[in-house]
Amino acid sequence: MEIIVAEKAGYCFGIENAMKMVKDTMHSGQDKIYSLGPISHNPQETQRLTDQGIMIINDEDVEKINSGCVILRSHGVGKKIIKVLEEKGIPIINATCPYVRAVQKKVETYYEAGYKIVIVGNRDHPEVIGANGWCNDEALIINDIKHLENIEVYDRICIVAQTTIIESRFNKICDEIRSRVNEVVIFNTICSATAERQAAAAKTAKEVEYMVVVGGYHSSNTQKLVDICKSCCENTCHIETIRDLDFAEVMKYQKIGITAGASTPDWIVKEVLEGMEEQNKIAEENVVEVVTTEE
Ligand code: F3S
Repeated sequence: MEIIVAEKAGYCFGIENAMKMVKDTMHSGQDKIYSLGPISHNPQETQRLTDQGIMIINDEDVEKINSGCVILRSHGVGKKIIKVLEEKGIPIINATCPYVRAVQKKVETYYEAGYKIVIVGNRDHPEVIGANGWCNDEALIINDIKHLENIEVYDRICIVAQTTIIESRFNKICDEIRSRVNEVVIFNTICSATAERQAAAAKTAKEVEYMVVVGGYHSSNTQKLVDICKSCCENTCHIETIRDLDFAEVMKYQKIGITAGASTPDWIVKEVLEGMEEQNKIAEENVVEVVTTEE
């Protein structure tokens, strides 16, 4: 059996960076460590961190904290939350992805310069909620060209993108705004990590007979990888952990591919890889050589 792991799979730079900051904080001797939102959206990783004493809180809980330290999630948070923590003297470990931080800075700078901020993205996504918090929660959050009805009322607009939004959608919205508004400044803040993972998954899926996608069942980027892999390899399965893998099915194939969502930690991917290698070894050892002897 040959197992191919997609060239770009699993944690993106931003999550990896945040996880390192979590690890360093845990080793720093802090007695209470809060994480503002889950650092990774993977359920097994969240459980692992919770078991190690990290307390996951949401934005509303910030008011209640009076001790310990707070790690800011990679998706970032709004300015007001940081101010509340600073006023309370709570140490902040800012694990906001640098690419997300760049979006926040653009939002803040252009808002202060008098531009109406447009964020192309999903209004319920923590990154968008956080970015909106750098322009006093006054951004127009647009996910569809249909939501641009009165856009002409603004004279100067600054457009940024949620880092994981689809580029064609962003461009379409930007073109429409540009055609109707006097002055438009556009920052394409889309991160390449998602597209790179999708391209690598498709490449691997085309080369194999069976494709395994590892990641949370509720992770939208993992689901997207599943769809892409299915379109390239009809024998694609989606698992959260090694326990979900149908080994009997896997063992029917010779060339297997693996990819993982951007929030799937390496240790889960490693378990899957090692589990398959182990099963393969057992299968090879159990091959009964049939020897026919002439009577
Ligand atoms: Fe950052 Fe891109 Fe990941 S914005 S959190 S590196 S998907």
